[in-house]
Amino acid sequence: MVKHIQFFDTTLRDGEQTIGVNFSVEQKVQIAKQLETWGVDCIEACFPVASKEDFDAVSAVANAVKNTCVTGLARARKGDIDACVKATGQAAHKQVHVFIATSPVHRESKLHMTKDQVIEAIKDCVSYAHKFFKIVEFSPEDATRTEPDFLCEAINAAIDSGASVINIADTVGYTNPVEFGQLFDYMQKHIPAFNDVTFSVHCHDDLGMAVANSLAAIEHGATRIEGTINGIGERAGNAALEEVAAAIYVRKDYYDAVDNINMKETKKTSDMISNFAKMPVPHNKAVVGANAFAHESGIHQDGMLKNPNTYEILTPESVGAQKTTLPLGKLSGSHAVMAKLNRMGYKVDRDDMKVIFPVFKDWADHTDIVSESDLKEIMKRSKKVSA
Ligand code: KIV
Ligand code: ZN
Repeated sequence: MVKHIQFFDTTLRDGEQTIGVNFSVEQKVQIAKQLETWGVDCIEACFPVASKEDFDAVSAVANAVKNTCVTGLARARKGDIDACVKATGQAAHKQVHVFIATSPVHRESKLHMTKDQVIEAIKDCVSYAHKFFKIVEFSPEDATRTEPDFLCEAINAAIDSGASVINIADTVGYTNPVEFGQLFDYMQKHIPAFNDVTFSVHCHDDLGMAVANSLAAIEHGATRIEGTINGIGERAGNAALEEVAAAIYVRKDYYDAVDNINMKETKKTSDMISNFAKMPVPHNKAVVGANAFAHESGIHQDGMLKNPNTYEILTPESVGAQKTTLPLGKLSGSHAVMAKLNRMGYKVDRDDMKVIFPVFKDWADHTDIVSESDLKEIMKRSKKVSA
């Protein structure tokens, strides 16, 4: 059966935990509207109890979006939940996101709580939150370093207390795709209501596996993915949602999943986050990087000119990016140089290239990218060579 995958965007909350990133309330509203256009199902607008600015941001986003669910984040404390109730008051669709750490290191060193105390806190806060919100999302923080039997005990307590979304947080990016799949298989066996609630994942990228872990979870029963645009977030960041969306889109055959994402809005969404966060997107970044649709080597350029399917599994148009480029450099082949010269208005054929191409190669050896004005000069020099 085709799975429906929900996208939960935390760019405005976990994304803002990136060092040096501080979105204004106005920017948050603009981002939230763009996320709605992109098609996310839920926006985590901030942590309302943290400051007046955070509270205002959640209320402003709650007022601004119409079809997308809005959530605030709350620790397992009634005051945090009360702040979420007030801040999301005007939202057309809302939920709350309550979390508490469950792993031994967090229980013992950070919370100073026993397992029983953690279970009591979950019961107390989830049932309290459920009085105000139909949808209560519960996250066991550092779930992937929690004893699996205790993790299931915590999740069962949350579900019995009214949680309908369970978000498995790989808080420190510790797991890997195979192990994460096995954890899901274990939870399917030990959580009787597994199929009655939504299982979500929140993966960090400390070992560069956040997207792969999120996709593995989809194969093992998760139907909601949390992440951020461009993968921004605490430390090494979160799963890049545009990469998860592209994987589901390109590999429909494999994941057998659909979602509400409007892929053509992807580049625009990424550019907005990059500008507001003042974080340039690396050129080689998957899906939205400047080089994602640029081909440099002669063999690749030749393939692209013959059939774009040879080296592109995703078209730039499908993600709203500028069209494919074949920048000319020292590795480019004669086919690509000839095609470019003909596009510039020169009428050159394979015989002409026997003279032009060595001049091009000589030039390209001393520069990074051969520009149009370089090509004009190359044509002048080639004429002298052939004369
Ligand atoms: O990384 C994390 O564990 C979180 C939780 C609040 C879900 O951000
Ligand atoms: Zn996080």
